[in-house]
Amino acid sequence: MSIHEHSHAKSHSGEHQADGDSPQAGQAALTHHSHWDERYTNHSWPSEPDPWLVELASGLVPGKALDLGAGPGRNAIWLAQQGWEVTAVDGSQVALDQAAARARAAGVELELVRADLLEFQPISATYELVVVANIHMRSPNREKLFATAARALKPGGHLFVVGHHLEDFGRHGPPDPDMLYTPQRLAAALPKELVQERVERVERSIGDGVGGHPDVAVLAWASAPRSQEGTP
Ligand SMILES: C[S@@+](CC[C@H](N)C(=O)[O-])C[C@H]1O[C@@H](n2cnc3c(N)ncnc32)[C@H](O)[C@@H]1O
Repeated sequence: MSIHEHSHAKSHSGEHQADGDSPQAGQAALTHHSHWDERYTNHSWPSEPDPWLVELASGLVPGKALDLGAGPGRNAIWLAQQGWEVTAVDGSQVALDQAAARARAAGVELELVRADLLEFQPISATYELVVVANIHMRSPNREKLFATAARALKPGGHLFVVGHHLEDFGRHGPPDPDMLYTPQRLAAALPKELVQERVERVERSIGDGVGGHPDVAVLAWASAPRSQEGTP
Protein backbone atom coordinates (compact mmCIF):
# COMPACT_ATOMS: atom_id res chain seq x y z
CA MET A 1 0.00 0.00 0.00
CA SER A 2 1.40 3.37 -0.93
CA ILE A 3 1.48 5.78 1.97
CA HIS A 4 1.46 9.42 0.99
CA GLU A 5 1.67 12.31 3.38
CA HIS A 6 1.42 15.89 2.40
CA SER A 7 2.78 18.92 4.12
CA HIS A 8 1.06 21.84 2.41
CA ALA A 9 1.29 19.51 -0.53
CA LYS A 10 -0.54 18.86 -3.74
CA SER A 11 -1.96 15.37 -3.93
CA HIS A 12 -0.09 12.92 -6.09
CA SER A 13 -1.74 9.84 -4.61
CA GLY A 14 -1.67 6.87 -6.90
CA GLU A 15 1.08 8.18 -9.17
CA HIS A 16 3.91 6.39 -7.40
CA GLN A 17 3.97 2.73 -6.60
CA ALA A 18 5.64 2.22 -3.26
CA ASP A 19 5.70 -1.51 -3.12
CA GLY A 20 5.27 -3.26 -6.41
CA ASP A 21 2.42 -5.70 -6.70
CA SER A 22 1.98 -6.84 -3.16
CA PRO A 23 0.75 -4.62 -0.31
CA GLN A 24 1.84 -7.25 2.20
CA ALA A 25 5.37 -7.35 0.81
CA GLY A 26 5.59 -3.57 1.02
CA GLN A 27 4.52 -3.46 4.64
CA ALA A 28 6.98 -6.21 5.56
CA ALA A 29 9.81 -4.25 3.97
CA LEU A 30 8.85 -1.13 5.90
CA THR A 31 9.23 -2.91 9.24
CA HIS A 32 13.01 -2.80 8.64
CA HIS A 33 13.00 0.94 9.17
CA SER A 34 12.60 0.85 12.96
CA HIS A 35 16.36 1.45 13.27
CA TRP A 36 15.93 4.87 11.65
CA ASP A 37 12.72 5.59 13.57
CA GLU A 38 14.65 5.05 16.77
CA ARG A 39 17.63 7.10 15.59
CA TYR A 40 15.52 10.11 14.65
CA THR A 41 13.46 9.83 17.83
CA ASN A 42 16.49 9.84 20.09
CA HIS A 43 19.00 12.01 18.22
CA SER A 44 18.54 15.23 16.35
CA TRP A 45 19.47 15.21 12.67
CA PRO A 46 21.13 18.17 10.93
CA SER A 47 18.93 20.71 9.24
CA GLU A 48 21.54 22.29 6.95
CA PRO A 49 21.51 20.98 3.37
CA ASP A 50 24.46 19.11 1.94
CA PRO A 51 26.99 21.77 0.84
CA TRP A 52 27.77 20.01 -2.46
CA LEU A 53 24.11 19.74 -3.29
CA VAL A 54 23.83 23.46 -2.64
CA GLU A 55 26.81 24.14 -4.91
CA LEU A 56 25.64 21.90 -7.75
CA ALA A 57 21.87 22.42 -7.67
CA SER A 58 22.22 26.19 -7.39
CA GLY A 59 23.21 26.19 -11.06
CA LEU A 60 19.98 24.52 -12.18
CA VAL A 61 16.63 25.99 -13.07
CA PRO A 62 14.22 24.66 -10.40
CA GLY A 63 11.80 22.00 -11.60
CA LYS A 64 10.76 18.68 -10.08
CA ALA A 65 13.11 17.00 -7.60
CA LEU A 66 13.01 13.55 -6.02
CA ASP A 67 14.89 12.96 -2.74
CA LEU A 68 15.34 9.20 -2.21
CA GLY A 69 15.93 8.43 1.47
CA ALA A 70 15.23 12.02 2.47
CA GLY A 71 15.30 11.47 6.25
CA PRO A 72 13.98 14.52 8.12
CA GLY A 73 14.22 16.50 4.91
CA ARG A 74 17.17 18.86 5.15
CA ASN A 75 17.95 18.62 1.43
CA ALA A 76 14.31 18.42 0.33
CA ILE A 77 13.41 21.52 2.33
CA TRP A 78 16.36 23.50 1.01
CA LEU A 79 15.38 22.56 -2.55
CA ALA A 80 11.77 23.57 -1.92
CA GLN A 81 13.02 26.90 -0.60
CA GLN A 82 14.83 27.41 -3.92
CA GLY A 83 11.58 26.87 -5.83
CA TRP A 84 11.80 23.12 -6.54
CA GLU A 85 8.68 20.94 -6.42
CA VAL A 86 10.01 18.16 -4.19
CA THR A 87 8.96 14.58 -3.55
CA ALA A 88 10.73 13.16 -0.48
CA VAL A 89 10.72 9.38 -0.02
CA ASP A 90 11.74 7.49 3.09
CA GLY A 91 10.88 4.26 4.88
CA SER A 92 10.94 5.82 8.32
CA GLN A 93 7.66 7.26 9.54
CA VAL A 94 9.50 9.30 12.16
CA ALA A 95 11.67 10.82 9.42
CA LEU A 96 8.60 11.79 7.43
CA ASP A 97 6.86 13.26 10.48
CA GLN A 98 9.95 15.35 11.24
CA ALA A 99 10.24 16.39 7.59
CA ALA A 100 6.59 17.47 7.62
CA ALA A 101 7.10 19.54 10.78
CA ARG A 102 10.29 21.13 9.44
CA ALA A 103 8.63 21.91 6.10
CA ARG A 104 5.68 23.52 7.88
CA ALA A 105 8.05 25.61 10.01
CA ALA A 106 9.94 26.66 6.88
CA GLY A 107 6.71 27.48 5.06
CA VAL A 108 7.39 25.18 2.12
CA GLU A 109 5.56 22.33 0.44
CA LEU A 110 6.84 18.76 0.18
CA GLU A 111 5.25 15.63 -1.13
CA LEU A 112 6.16 12.96 1.42
CA VAL A 113 6.03 9.31 0.43
CA ARG A 114 6.64 6.42 2.81
CA ALA A 115 8.14 3.55 0.88
CA ASP A 116 11.03 1.14 0.76
CA LEU A 117 13.54 2.50 -1.74
CA LEU A 118 14.09 -0.93 -3.25
CA GLU A 119 10.41 -1.22 -4.08
CA PHE A 120 9.50 2.39 -4.82
CA GLN A 121 8.76 3.02 -8.49
CA PRO A 122 8.77 6.71 -9.35
CA ILE A 123 7.09 7.92 -12.50
CA SER A 124 9.68 7.57 -15.27
CA ALA A 125 11.38 10.59 -16.85
CA THR A 126 9.71 13.06 -14.48
CA TYR A 127 12.41 14.79 -12.44
CA GLU A 128 15.06 17.37 -13.30
CA LEU A 129 16.95 16.36 -10.15
CA VAL A 130 17.21 13.16 -8.11
CA VAL A 131 19.05 13.18 -4.77
CA VAL A 132 20.53 10.07 -3.12
CA ALA A 133 22.26 11.47 -0.03
CA ASN A 134 23.91 9.21 2.52
CA ILE A 135 22.13 6.05 1.47
CA HIS A 136 24.48 3.11 1.91
CA MET A 137 23.55 -0.23 0.39
CA ARG A 138 25.51 -3.31 -0.58
CA SER A 139 25.65 -4.43 -4.19
CA PRO A 140 23.37 -5.36 -5.95
CA ASN A 141 20.85 -3.18 -4.06
CA ARG A 142 23.09 -0.15 -4.65
CA GLU A 143 22.85 -0.65 -8.42
CA LYS A 144 19.10 -1.22 -8.14
CA LEU A 145 18.63 2.07 -6.28
CA PHE A 146 20.66 4.03 -8.85
CA ALA A 147 18.72 2.38 -11.67
CA THR A 148 15.50 3.61 -10.03
CA ALA A 149 17.01 7.08 -9.68
CA ALA A 150 18.12 7.14 -13.33
CA ARG A 151 14.72 6.01 -14.58
CA ALA A 152 13.10 8.89 -12.72
CA LEU A 153 15.28 11.50 -14.49
CA LYS A 154 14.04 13.57 -17.38
CA PRO A 155 16.44 13.79 -20.33
CA GLY A 156 19.09 16.29 -19.25
CA GLY A 157 18.15 15.84 -15.58
CA HIS A 158 20.81 15.44 -12.88
CA LEU A 159 21.52 12.79 -10.27
CA PHE A 160 23.30 13.88 -7.08
CA VAL A 161 24.85 11.20 -4.89
CA VAL A 162 26.88 11.62 -1.73
CA GLY A 163 27.88 9.04 0.87
CA HIS A 164 30.59 7.93 3.23
CA HIS A 165 33.94 6.93 1.73
CA LEU A 166 35.45 3.55 2.57
CA GLU A 167 38.11 5.58 4.44
CA ASP A 168 35.39 6.34 6.99
CA PHE A 169 35.09 2.67 7.92
CA GLY A 170 35.16 2.40 11.71
CA ARG A 171 34.85 6.19 12.12
CA HIS A 172 31.64 7.34 10.45
CA GLY A 173 28.76 5.76 8.61
CA PRO A 174 27.60 2.16 8.58
CA PRO A 175 29.90 -0.43 10.18
CA ASP A 176 30.08 -2.48 7.01
CA PRO A 177 32.84 -1.78 4.46
CA ASP A 178 30.73 -3.23 1.63
CA MET A 179 28.16 -0.46 2.13
CA LEU A 180 30.68 2.37 1.88
CA TYR A 181 31.73 4.15 -1.30
CA THR A 182 34.90 4.70 -3.24
CA PRO A 183 34.84 6.82 -6.39
CA GLN A 184 35.48 3.65 -8.42
CA ARG A 185 32.70 1.73 -6.68
CA LEU A 186 30.22 4.56 -7.11
CA ALA A 187 31.15 5.13 -10.75
CA ALA A 188 30.71 1.42 -11.47
CA ALA A 189 27.31 1.33 -9.74
CA LEU A 190 25.82 4.19 -11.76
CA PRO A 191 23.75 3.14 -14.79
CA LYS A 192 25.83 3.21 -17.96
CA GLU A 193 23.47 5.59 -19.75
CA LEU A 194 24.23 8.43 -17.33
CA VAL A 195 26.96 10.94 -18.16
CA GLN A 196 29.27 11.09 -15.14
CA GLU A 197 30.21 14.76 -14.79
CA ARG A 198 31.89 14.41 -11.36
CA VAL A 199 32.71 11.37 -9.26
CA GLU A 200 35.24 12.22 -6.57
CA ARG A 201 36.47 11.94 -3.01
CA VAL A 202 35.58 14.97 -0.91
CA GLU A 203 36.09 15.94 2.72
CA ARG A 204 33.25 17.35 4.72
CA SER A 205 33.00 18.77 8.19
CA ILE A 206 29.35 19.72 8.64
CA GLY A 207 25.92 18.44 7.86
CA ASP A 208 27.02 14.83 7.78
CA GLY A 209 24.67 13.58 10.45
CA VAL A 210 27.42 12.33 12.72
CA GLY A 211 27.93 15.20 15.09
CA GLY A 212 29.89 17.66 13.00
CA HIS A 213 33.20 15.76 12.95
CA PRO A 214 35.22 15.89 9.72
CA ASP A 215 34.74 12.90 7.52
CA VAL A 216 35.45 11.72 4.00
CA ALA A 217 32.77 11.25 1.39
CA VAL A 218 32.31 10.34 -2.24
CA LEU A 219 30.29 12.65 -4.45
CA ALA A 220 28.73 11.97 -7.83
CA TRP A 221 27.01 14.37 -10.22
CA ALA A 222 25.68 12.70 -13.32
CA SER A 223 23.14 13.57 -16.00
CA ALA A 224 20.67 11.74 -18.18
CA PRO A 225 21.56 12.24 -21.85
CA ARG A 226 19.47 14.76 -23.74
CA SER A 227 19.56 12.47 -26.77
CA GLN A 228 16.94 10.31 -25.03
CA GLU A 229 14.45 13.11 -25.69
CA GLY A 230 11.56 11.80 -27.73
CA THR A 231 12.36 8.14 -27.14
CA PRO A 232 9.59 6.11 -25.52
C1 LIG B 1 21.74 8.48 6.69
S1 LIG B 1 20.04 8.88 6.50
C2 LIG B 1 20.16 10.13 5.23
C3 LIG B 1 19.01 11.10 5.27
C4 LIG B 1 19.14 12.25 4.26
N1 LIG B 1 19.29 11.78 2.90
C5 LIG B 1 20.29 13.14 4.64
O1 LIG B 1 21.33 13.09 3.97
O2 LIG B 1 20.14 13.88 5.62
C6 LIG B 1 19.43 7.47 5.60
C7 LIG B 1 17.92 7.52 5.34
O3 LIG B 1 17.61 6.59 4.34
C8 LIG B 1 16.44 5.88 4.71
N2 LIG B 1 16.55 4.56 4.10
C9 LIG B 1 17.63 3.74 4.09
N3 LIG B 1 17.35 2.61 3.42
C10 LIG B 1 16.07 2.74 3.00
C11 LIG B 1 15.21 1.91 2.25
N4 LIG B 1 15.59 0.71 1.81
N5 LIG B 1 13.96 2.35 2.01
C12 LIG B 1 13.53 3.56 2.46
N6 LIG B 1 14.30 4.39 3.16
C13 LIG B 1 15.55 3.97 3.43
C14 LIG B 1 16.45 5.83 6.21
O4 LIG B 1 15.15 5.70 6.75
C15 LIG B 1 17.08 7.17 6.53
O5 LIG B 1 16.11 8.17 6.74
